[in-house]
Amino acid sequence: MRTTTRLAFISTASVAMLALAGCGGGGSADPGSTGDAAENVAPTTMKLALNQTEEHPSFTALEGFGECLTDGTEGRWNIEIYPNSTLGDQAEYVQSVGDGVIDLAIVSAPQLENLSKDFVIFSVPTVFESIDHQMQVLADEEVVGDLYASLEESNNITVVGGFTQGARSVYTKDGSAETPEDLAGKKIRVQESPVFISMINALGASPTPMAFAEVYTGLQSGVIDGAENNEVSYFTQKHFEVAPYFSYTNHLIGSDFLISNTDTLGEMSDADRETFEGCWDEAWEQHTELWTSATEDAIAGAEAGGATFVEVDEEAYADALAPLLDEFLTTDSQKALYDAIKDSAE
Ligand code: GCU
Repeated sequence: MRTTTRLAFISTASVAMLALAGCGGGGSADPGSTGDAAENVAPTTMKLALNQTEEHPSFTALEGFGECLTDGTEGRWNIEIYPNSTLGDQAEYVQSVGDGVIDLAIVSAPQLENLSKDFVIFSVPTVFESIDHQMQVLADEEVVGDLYASLEESNNITVVGGFTQGARSVYTKDGSAETPEDLAGKKIRVQESPVFISMINALGASPTPMAFAEVYTGLQSGVIDGAENNEVSYFTQKHFEVAPYFSYTNHLIGSDFLISNTDTLGEMSDADRETFEGCWDEAWEQHTELWTSATEDAIAGAEAGGATFVEVDEEAYADALAPLLDEFLTTDSQKALYDAIKDSAE
């Protein structure tokens, strides 16, 4: 694990969440400090929870984020990444970031859907035309600015920005899934969210909500027959070893978000906050660039490990999933967001 601890006061010997309680929320910085006296503020190391491995592009980009922040703030603000779900699962990250037990985390869109229904917009099939379109939207202040700030009062969580998860597809233990009929009755792991549950139901399979870190064992033991994710996680989590049929259902381009404790961000001086934002932009660009090659490497690696990648009947999948738009886009704000996203693609 990379360390940004050269100025940290806090021991990293224990990575248990309990040991972190009371140490987060920006550590020793003066909560009232938003002015220019940053050089008088004691260094703070922010804890960032990640459920991916060190080989994942998110880890690489976030590592660069931390280095950039340390350099740009002359060590006043640092980031320590806890990868591999060492701080639990994403549902816990949301709670812990809001509570200030940790400062930062990467969470998938469905986790935020559980806090505000407007976030479902990122998980309805066909909302993004391509990863390029998604990246343009996730960084477009006009489209997502209010949404990213909408959890600050209610949950003390600021959404800093979003990474692509690439297109998600279904993979299974026994045989591929060229059509939704091939999934009939199969238990497919989903993220813990209503839209993902409905998605798998719409395909005629049986959704099983489960934390990411439990999927490998779930597949291995037969508790589930399959799961759905992008090629990169399929490979880095080694799911290909126990579910070797990857069917290109491409049912959704997924989004991950960097969330921060709002109070922690408020403790930064204006200049340090600007550095934080600039470093995030750089990390975001690096992540987007890395994504394509990481996907290619993941496919090659999984194939070398015995996985088969199969094309599917795209129309059959699109038809089965089409009703989700009306089912999940019910409020004016959801519809307005959907329209703004679609308009931005033109
Ligand atoms: C992807 C995504 C993660 C998410 C995971 C999941 O890997 O990047 O943020 O947790 O899917 O399916 O749970």
